[in-house]
Amino acid sequence: MIVLNSAKAITELLEKRSSNYSDRPYMPMNNGIIGWDWNFGLMRYNDAWRMRRRIFHQYFQQSTVDAHQPVQMKATYGLLRNLLERPERFMDHARLHAGSIILQLTYGYEIQGHDDDYVALAAAAREGYAPRGISSSYLVDFFPSLKFIPEWMPGADFKRKAKKWRYSVLALRDRPYDLYKATATQETPKFPSFVAENLERLSTQNPGAEIDDMIKESAGVAYFSGAETTISVVLSFILAMVMYPSVIKRAQEELDLVVGKHKLPNFSDRPMLPFVEAIFLESLRWNPVAPLGVPHANVADDVYEGYHIPAGSIVVGNIWAFFHNKEHFPEPSVFNPDRFYNKDKEDIPLDPTEFAFGSGRRICPARHLANNTAWIAIATILAAFDIEKAKDSDGAVIEPSGEYTSGHTSRPVAFPCVIKPRSEAHRNLVLSL
Ligand code: HEM
Repeated sequence: MIVLNSAKAITELLEKRSSNYSDRPYMPMNNGIIGWDWNFGLMRYNDAWRMRRRIFHQYFQQSTVDAHQPVQMKATYGLLRNLLERPERFMDHARLHAGSIILQLTYGYEIQGHDDDYVALAAAAREGYAPRGISSSYLVDFFPSLKFIPEWMPGADFKRKAKKWRYSVLALRDRPYDLYKATATQETPKFPSFVAENLERLSTQNPGAEIDDMIKESAGVAYFSGAETTISVVLSFILAMVMYPSVIKRAQEELDLVVGKHKLPNFSDRPMLPFVEAIFLESLRWNPVAPLGVPHANVADDVYEGYHIPAGSIVVGNIWAFFHNKEHFPEPSVFNPDRFYNKDKEDIPLDPTEFAFGSGRRICPARHLANNTAWIAIATILAAFDIEKAKDSDGAVIEPSGEYTSGHTSRPVAFPCVIKPRSEAHRNLVLSL
């Protein structure tokens, strides 16, 4: 296993030599045992991956994501209303926000209230996604023959766990798709969606179980990845606002000046809000969503700076390491949007939007969508709410620990805070949405 800790090595190998480094290692635990084989994000670099990635890309590429903005706006208004009504449940609201956007875009499905089953299902499946870090955290990944040991044997704990996770991983793929198909036959789907578009286009041209599976699996990947990633950026942002109160004040001054005192920003305001943009970028950098990305593998032997890299090596781009490189980002653990404020692209050594989403041919195909989802949540929360440290029953301020979960994706562990409308007028504004 080779871990690339510098932007230079990542760019050189995963970007410039991407024809060699776009494979994924085969991980028996994730793929065969837990049952993620259908997830093209973990597939080998082959035709099955290419076909799925192509249809995914068509729906989520930069030139089409603007069409998804109305769905993002609607979900964001829902987020603001939820924050007003039950601010202490902000973590649940952030999950619902991401989940409602991706469920509607993927299946045309509108979430059913706060405890929507499908949002909960994605969270359950996350438990079974390389739970202890990058995919190769189980001995069976290095000694695949261990997969044959029976479940009851001492040391086969991984098999017992996998059995539990497998249920939600397969339900995630099948249930929303089956629901779509069951309801779409009764009435025409209410909203355009990834599934509706692809069923119409591909299934009519080329009907058959293979195409049906491809659409179902790609939809399942969108649903899972969409529900469980952007939430981390939004929670990092809220944590940062609690820990760095001066930042929120500056952002609100900018919003009041550019958008107006009692109005909410929308996507067209984005270019005029450089400080809000800097907060968004710093939220991507500070504690990256996927600290170690998703492991790549090389198909052929290679040599880099004198090192021989045998074919089939696991090659990990350590996003966390170069976002915390002191040379590029002095005092890296401090949340400091000024690193990016009013800076031209060439003055930013490492633009977080270019690295947080991985590299080369496996780069996150939904990065433009994710970027918009997180930005609009951040901008509107800043415009409508104050975020402060919570106090205990004696009136003492509670300092958040700043701790993060570990795993393939990382997010702040639960922390208390106070989220309240900036004024009565802001409360009314949110109530009117
Ligand atoms: C802020 C949010 C997000 C971050 C930081 C993020 C980050 C990443 C990273 C680091 C990778 C691995 C890239 C590589 O192998 O080099 C990845 C892959 C992927 N992401 Fe995202 N992602 C985000 C949101 C999303 C969303 C919303 C979706 C779906 C709607 C999505 C779908 C995918 C898929 C399908 C892959 C696998 C691509 C492949 O193997 O070909 N991601 N993402």
